[in-house]
Amino acid sequence: MIWHNLHTAILQWYSQSARDLPWRHTRDPYAILVSEVMLQQTQVDRVLPKYLAFLAQYPDFRTLAAAPTSEVIRTWQGLGYNRRAVRLQRVAQAVVQRYDGALPDSMPALLELEGIGRYTAAAVACFAFGRAEPVLDTNVRRVLGRIALGPDGPATATPAALWALAKEALPDSDPYSWNQALMDLGARICMERNPMCLVCPARSGCASAGRAVPALREQRGSYKTKREAPFAGSTRFYRGRIIERLRLLGPAETLPLSAIGASIKPDYAASDEPWLQGLIQGLEHDGLLATREDGGIALP
Ligand code: ADE
Repeated sequence: MIWHNLHTAILQWYSQSARDLPWRHTRDPYAILVSEVMLQQTQVDRVLPKYLAFLAQYPDFRTLAAAPTSEVIRTWQGLGYNRRAVRLQRVAQAVVQRYDGALPDSMPALLELEGIGRYTAAAVACFAFGRAEPVLDTNVRRVLGRIALGPDGPATATPAALWALAKEALPDSDPYSWNQALMDLGARICMERNPMCLVCPARSGCASAGRAVPALREQRGSYKTKREAPFAGSTRFYRGRIIERLRLLGPAETLPLSAIGASIKPDYAASDEPWLQGLIQGLEHDGLLATREDGGIALP
């Protein structure tokens, strides 16, 4: 695969039509980490209003590390996947303890921090420290898979093959713009369902150009629905409802198990108690809530 012409075309398109996103105006490793943790499972337009507010409240690792966890979980409201709030705070605490409040800049050191996975480490290494790391999220996987492997590439290639492909595709200079450009391409042109091949800057070098649409149409029924809305009745749905309810409590207030059950499930019955107990235990294990001595339940 020859990438040179694609580099030129995609980077030129990006220089003209990059989205103006607030995390593209900073190289502060803390701010970049916050943005990438938020963006990993939440869409850009839902992250936008939360990102700046979070940074205003917790401007650096020290502030976040020292905040009450219950408050961080409250601040996370609207983003979903609340476990990320707890994990992000734990990363902040480790950075303060081990690195005096400054995030390390190497991949091995970043990966050693519990709560930072391969994607987040690569994103921070590239977007904050300018390192030539491939940054492979769902969108970029789809873009590169289609370009290099054809319409079925993203679905059939192994994760290792896609990481290798992303590494091979990196240009010699400006990995920052390249990785951001691939994200914009995935969000605005090379969409999952309706890729706009006709206006794509990569069309002349893409193995899926003009073919991505029919290939996808055939499979349309098999697409998962967006992760944004947890399926009503799923464990994630009820976990979210429990945290939502606990967010409403005052500082010293707690709720008994039965009251939580009634507030998250209209037909809650005594026979649901073991199920609810299981959910509560899971949330407690994830650091999202605490059970007080009298059995009352609250945010940690
Ligand atoms: N999704 C994940 N990271 C992103 C970024 N830096 N810009 C836009 N979308 C993203």
